[in-house]
Amino acid sequence: MRSFKVLSVIGLLAQVICSLGFYNPVRKGAADPAMVWADGNYHLTYTSDTHIQITKSPTIGGLNKGETKTVWTDSDTTRNLHIWAPEMHRIKGIWIIFYSSRGAKDEEGFRTRFLRGCNGPNPSDCTYTFGGDLVAPEGQRGGPSKNNAHSIDGSYLKIPGKGEYHVLSMIDEKGLESIGIATLDTSKWKVGGWNVICRPDQPWEQFDGDGAGSKALRTGKGLVEGPYALYHGKDIWLSYSGSDCSAPQYALGLLHYNGGDPLKASSWDKTGPVLSSANGHYGTGHNSFFSSPDGTEIWNLFHATSNPKGHCGVNRYTMAQKVTFDAQNNPIFGEPLSNETEIPPPSGQGKKVDNSTELV
Ligand SMILES: *[C@@H]1O[C@H](CO)[C@@H](O)[C@H](O)[C@H]1NC(C)=O
Ligand SMILES: *[C@@H]1O[C@H](CO)[C@@H](O)[C@H](O)[C@H]1NC(C)=O
Repeated sequence: MRSFKVLSVIGLLAQVICSLGFYNPVRKGAADPAMVWADGNYHLTYTSDTHIQITKSPTIGGLNKGETKTVWTDSDTTRNLHIWAPEMHRIKGIWIIFYSSRGAKDEEGFRTRFLRGCNGPNPSDCTYTFGGDLVAPEGQRGGPSKNNAHSIDGSYLKIPGKGEYHVLSMIDEKGLESIGIATLDTSKWKVGGWNVICRPDQPWEQFDGDGAGSKALRTGKGLVEGPYALYHGKDIWLSYSGSDCSAPQYALGLLHYNGGDPLKASSWDKTGPVLSSANGHYGTGHNSFFSSPDGTEIWNLFHATSNPKGHCGVNRYTMAQKVTFDAQNNPIFGEPLSNETEIPPPSGQGKKVDNSTELV
């Protein structure tokens, strides 16, 4: 009788420990988030504007108070303003950080850039050096003149049998912020010409924040930005954000790769929005994906604001939710869960599993 009681207490304890969930947001003051699991910790980076920092924690619920380290500051005034949207990718064994920034002069506008880290077990302990700008050759850029070098939100895409690509936000022929793609040679770190693969042509991509809350202005001058690769089974997508980040309608869409030339818009099928405001979270966008510690699950990481009028500043917060897939392998994002929803942690958390090699 007594041993039965002891056993059931142990059983209950084990249940409590295994079911220890977390609550969103996982980090306050963390917009444009990107995260990897490596070396027994989650490593989360986000826009800090004046520098790049990484917060680490062995549990996702611990990120709000996680140890935080500045990994990049820059004294070069041609590129040290508005350091935005850092992302960590392990490419050919080396931790690389993609980010965007600008300088003070007009001709030093936003550019996508990269930092070279190390081949160590995690991105937090690398020393980073400036890698270079990822600007297309003259005459193969954005805008009507094909010479507009404005670019933000640079990321990395790898398509088996096709190659490696730089995906980014750039300006299309009509002057609208669009999603672009270019070949990326990661031996020489050179990009090819930019090609537009997604224009802001959907009603949900037209909202601009005007402080009018849910009636935010539709300008007819929409924008799309923030591409990030999603891989599951044989399918590849790019997620992206539509509308202005200051509008509460800022939301996520998807481009599914249909197997053609990745540089052509016709190779990408658009759907969306796939995630938008709900449960007190507005402007849910600029996402990335990370794998659970055991590599069996894919999680969506995105930012939101509690301001129903929308908000674009650095005090947006980071949310994490599991992506599921239906029988046809379509990703399901669900809706942003309330702060009070306890969420089971990513699979394998708490076990020492390092599945970070060739993380993309
Ligand atoms: C959710 O949590 C964030 C961060 O603490 C807070 O700013 C926001 O107001 C909360 N949302 C609701 C609906 O309580
Ligand atoms: C790592 O992740 C991949 C892809 O999800 C999986 O196939 C593999 O079994 C994982 N490896 C380990 C050691 O967990």
